[in-house]
Amino acid sequence: MLVSAKEMLVKAKAGKYAVGQFNINNLEWTKAILQTSQENNSPVILGVSEGAGKYMCGFKTVADMVKAMIDSLGITVPVAIHLDHGSYEGAKKAIEAGFSSVMFDGSKYAIDENIEKTKEIISIAHGKGISVEAEVGAIGGEEDGVIGGGEVADPDECKLIADLGVDMLAAGIGNIHGKYPANWAGLNFDVLAQIQEKTGIMPLVLHGGTGIPADMIKKAISLGVSKINVNTECQLAFADATRKYIEAGKDLEGKGFDPRKLLAPGFEAIKATVKEKMELFGSVDKA
Ligand code: 13P
Repeated sequence: MLVSAKEMLVKAKAGKYAVGQFNINNLEWTKAILQTSQENNSPVILGVSEGAGKYMCGFKTVADMVKAMIDSLGITVPVAIHLDHGSYEGAKKAIEAGFSSVMFDGSKYAIDENIEKTKEIISIAHGKGISVEAEVGAIGGEEDGVIGGGEVADPDECKLIADLGVDMLAAGIGNIHGKYPANWAGLNFDVLAQIQEKTGIMPLVLHGGTGIPADMIKKAISLGVSKINVNTECQLAFADATRKYIEAGKDLEGKGFDPRKLLAPGFEAIKATVKEKMELFGSVDKA
């Protein structure tokens, strides 16, 4: 069932668990995540970056594929299709194309401009029942060519943006996209606690979910995080399983080169990763 992310996140915040956002890249990714959500009776958010949207022939192709797949696979758990780190123009395009949720990442702008642009996206999106995520304090690391400085958000600025009526708020707390460096200082829980105190019931979003140790994930959820984004970990699992298949020479046995066989181990690896995250985030049986 395609829905906005609003209701599932309000429920997650109240129930002290988090809904996973898993980024998609193609049909196999989408099918693996949807099937795992249904099997675990978990709500889910499918994340689509602007780069992945272009790769998949545009937002409309992606939205139509997701809707058709929800129908053909008989997916009854709540599913949101969400633009990840959208630009101002990108957010408007995703809304037009039929996404049920968008992130407008105005963290690169000065706070006043972030506020103005976030307000405009909210008014367009909410008019159509689409949920909105905003960001304060860039998330570190590189994602799809977007390089964040890894700032720690100012809790007062978080409150300003939260008060605009966004449905979920991403705030930098020392988290980084991609693999964490060996000398990573960890999440800044003091700042997270301050943000939570200032923003109250607002569902908070933790980006850069790959590689954050389980105890830190649990603590972040206890401090108000209700949505956790995972991208790189599914990519690593897919690549690892595919490499093993080829290194074992299985593509050379019989019809092992058939893409439906060649991509199967990677597909199963994504499913296993998503299931493990849903268990850790506590979203199993919360559909
Ligand atoms: P990772 O690739 O580090 O899991 O981050 C995903 C993310 O935050 C998407 O916005």
